[in-house]
Amino acid sequence: MSDIITIATQKGGTGKTTTAGALGAALTRKGWRVLMVDMDPQANLTFTMRAQDQTHGTYEVLTGKMPAADAICTGPGQAGKPSRTKEKPGDMPDRKIIPASTALSGADLELTAIGKEFRLQEALQPLRDDFDYIIIDTPPSLGILTINALTAADEVVITAQADAYSLQGIWQLHSTIQAVTRYTNPGLLLKGILITRHNPRSVLSRDLTGLIEETAQQMQTFVYQRPIREGVAVKEAQASRQDLFSYAPRNKPAQDYMAFADELLERRQGDDS
Ligand SMILES: Nc1ncnc2c1ncn2[C@@H]1O[C@H](COP(=O)(O)OP(=O)(O)OP(=O)(O)O)[C@@H](O)[C@H]1O
Ligand SMILES: [Mg+2]
Repeated sequence: MSDIITIATQKGGTGKTTTAGALGAALTRKGWRVLMVDMDPQANLTFTMRAQDQTHGTYEVLTGKMPAADAICTGPGQAGKPSRTKEKPGDMPDRKIIPASTALSGADLELTAIGKEFRLQEALQPLRDDFDYIIIDTPPSLGILTINALTAADEVVITAQADAYSLQGIWQLHSTIQAVTRYTNPGLLLKGILITRHNPRSVLSRDLTGLIEETAQQMQTFVYQRPIREGVAVKEAQASRQDLFSYAPRNKPAQDYMAFADELLERRQGDDS
């Protein structure tokens, strides 16, 4: 039975898509069966995973036009692609995604019937034995697409940059999570806050990291031990549409994201035992 992890915050540009992509790539490299789901009409993850030419995706799945299994697109492996280093990190296995398209932006208006919050949860149900992890990327809003992603999930990870607006965003998402656990998904767990785009040399960054830790305590959750540092390789990898580990495995953000995946897996083991 798969574990469904949603990456969310309604604040834009806090590294949701980067985190979803890197976590998916890290878990795939570790040998887990991973499905990515792009719930953002901006389709950034879909683009990076080279799946943007598909005629079907999350829109068709949410509107009941297609079963989720038929909407899965297999992205090409990364063998033979240019990389930043001469090091050969080993071929990346093929990765699977249910892509997003701009048609998804109409879903807000189209999904009005009773049960609209449960569309993704229902659609993913038949796939839960086929994957170990299903990772959902969400748009920077708390509309019906994010509500579907939270209703479908077992766990939600919040991404936050060390800035004042991120803190505000964490609280706003927290109230949405509380509403979701009350009305549509009582089992949803807040599985930590990940600090992204971190600059260890900035004093402000350090101060705000402290505040985010306090906020996490108030929410009875935690901050992942290792923040994800800024690194130009993130943008470069995305521009060349490769996963971070194939493109620049020794780069700081790649190392940090691997440590994040390790911590997430360790905490799962701790929960299971
Ligand atoms: N660790 C990092 N180092 C450098 N750049 C980063 C890092 N993480 C993310 N970025 C860059 O920051 C920008 C925003 O990241 P990303 O698209 O992942 O955020 P997002 O939360 O998904 O945004 P949106 O809310 O628009 O969906 C992107 O251009 C990305 O390349
Ligand atoms: Mg995004």
